[in-house]
Order: sequence, then C-alpha cells, then structure tokens
Amino acid sequence: MRILGIESSCDDTCAAVLEGDRRVLSSVVSSQEEVHAKYGGVVPELASRRHLECIIPVIQEALDEAGCTLEQIEAVAVTQGPGLIGSLLVGLSTAKAIAYGRGIPLVPVHHLQGHLFSPMLSGLEVPYPHLGLVVSGGHTAVYKVRSPLEAVFLGGTRDDAAGEAFDKVGKCLELPYPGGPSIEKAARAWPGELIRFPRPRFKTGGVQFSFSGLKTAVAQYIQEQRAVARPLNVPQVCRSFQEVVIDCLAAQSFQALEAEGLKVLTVGGGVAANSALRERFEQLALEKAVRVHFAERKFCTDNAAMIAAVAYHQLQEKTRPQDWPLELNAYARLPLGE
Ligand code: KG4
Ligand code: ZN
Repeated sequence: MRILGIESSCDDTCAAVLEGDRRVLSSVVSSQEEVHAKYGGVVPELASRRHLECIIPVIQEALDEAGCTLEQIEAVAVTQGPGLIGSLLVGLSTAKAIAYGRGIPLVPVHHLQGHLFSPMLSGLEVPYPHLGLVVSGGHTAVYKVRSPLEAVFLGGTRDDAAGEAFDKVGKCLELPYPGGPSIEKAARAWPGELIRFPRPRFKTGGVQFSFSGLKTAVAQYIQEQRAVARPLNVPQVCRSFQEVVIDCLAAQSFQALEAEGLKVLTVGGGVAANSALRERFEQLALEKAVRVHFAERKFCTDNAAMIAAVAYHQLQEKTRPQDWPLELNAYARLPLGE
C-alpha cells in the first residue's frame, strides 16, 4: 500500500511516500532554520506562513522522488498533534484537500507515535514490548511501547525538553541556531576537565526529567564569567552541559528498562542525532546486556516518513475513507498513552 505522509507540526515542512510501513520511497524535509535563526527559537506565526508557501512544492518533490503521481497514492497520513496549531493546520488542510479530491482515507497520526516508530524505518525488526525514549525540541518522554499503535506513558520532563535546553544554552553562547548540533560540535573540541553543573534530584520515584535548572545554571555561569571579563571556554561549557543532559537521559532510561523488565530500548527525536549520546547509550547497553536501537539520523528530526509508517498500521485496523471524517481537527496538546 502506497501512503503519502505530511508533517508540519513545528518548523519543518515534510512530505514522504512509503510503500507499507518501512519502504521509504522518498522523504523530503524543508527546514525553516534560516527563518527562525535570528530569533534563536521558532516563531509560530512565521512557521505557519512558511509552511503555506512550502507544502505543495514539498509534496510534489516527494511524489517526484518516489516516481509516482497523486493518482497512485492510496491514503494520506498527516500529523494531527501535538505541535503549533497554525503549523499543524496547514498540513491537515492540505491532507484533507488531497483525501477529499481523490476519495482516499485521511489518516490522522500522533506526532510522538511517529517518533516512537522512527527507529524501525531502517527496516529493523524491533521486538515488542520495548522501551521508547523520545528526546526532541518539544518532548522528552519515555514510553512502554506495546505495538506500533499502543504506547504507555511512563514519565517525561517536568519543565523544558532536552532539545529546548540545547537551543537555549546555544543562544546564551551565541552559537548558530539550532543549538543542539552547534553544542555537539563545540563540545568535541574539549577533552579536559568539566564544569560541575547541577543534576536534578527528585523526591518521588518513576521516570522524570528536568532541564530548566541546568539551563539556568549554565546561563548564570556564562554571566559570571562575562562579569569578571574572564574569557569563556565555550567548548568546555558545551561539553559540561551536554554530559549532564546525557547523564540524566541515560540514568532514567536504563532505570526504566530495569523497572519494566525490558531488554530493548529505542531512541528517537532530534537530540537522538547526538553522537556523544549514542556512544554513551551503546556503552551502557553493552554493560547491562540490553539492546539499544537509534533512529537513523535523517529520521531523528521531524520527518513525514514516520507519520506515513504509523498510518500504515492504523490502516490495518480501519480501511474505509469514512472511518476518518474530513471534519477531524488538529490539536496543539494531544496526550499519548497517559
Ligand atoms: O525532533 P525535532 O526535529 O523537533 C521536535 O519535534 O522538537 O528536534 C529538534 C531538536 C532541536 O532542539 C535541536 O537542537 C535538537 O533536536 N538536536 C540536537 C542535535 N540535532 C538536533 N540536539 C543535540 N545534538 C544534536 N546533534
Ligand atoms: Zn518531533
């Protein structure tokens, strides 16, 4: 079955064509980095306007790359939420128009369900149930994943997402936007001693993260150094910050694996592209005799292939166009498995 996927929940306009749930015929991502760079973060109104300009050319490019026409598409998958509402609506309205025009099913997909499925896009067979960590600019959460469509929320961040912390620290250090890849690059240049930034302590058990205190501590450190006109060792700050983020992500994920009695961990979302994180998780997996699977880097950040893939599974359960009414809406907040 050939599915067109559309994803526009944040600042990337994405379209993909999939055959089944993991043969990616094309995956096109039009990034808006240059639109938001000078603001150091995504400006929602600018994001939705850019989606409007890009969505049709991006879909056309995805069809061309896949070597197919709209007439050969059997279903349209689209991100229904969570995300920026103006951005989501551009993707949803476009998907509705295509589904209505062609008389094919319109399949609404949860963005995080997409990230949870993204490690499977490389054709990998990952056994269920497994533990899924989604770590991106908007989300940091751990799920017990029972099937492609069933995930139980085990815990997440109490404040900032990990990627958001990367972006804010990057902004404080005046590094190119987005902060994540810039911090990773700078951190590689510092093999020496680390600054001791605080790690969050939680009074209650269960999976939880918090990155806002760390972000504030790094911002304060930068201010203090500047106040006494001491030259800032940017690579050292980056590496010290990155290590704390990785420590927290690793500690909570590996504890959750043990608590749930699971042996397989998957990691997706933009921050999962980080090489230091991947190395640490692989090392720990070896030590603890568990398996860890990362999404391929191109499928870590937002993409429409993961959306089309989840839709394939939804289509195994419901098959008629009328199963998903064209009146369906997009949602900025949309819980998963809570
Ligand atoms: O998954 P994504 O494209 O969007 C959301 O759904 O949020 O993730 C984007 C986030 C940004 O915060 C970006 O700084 C971060 O992922 N990111 C990274 C790296 N590449 C992207 N963070 C750390 N290291 C990286 N290499
Ligand atoms: Zn995402």
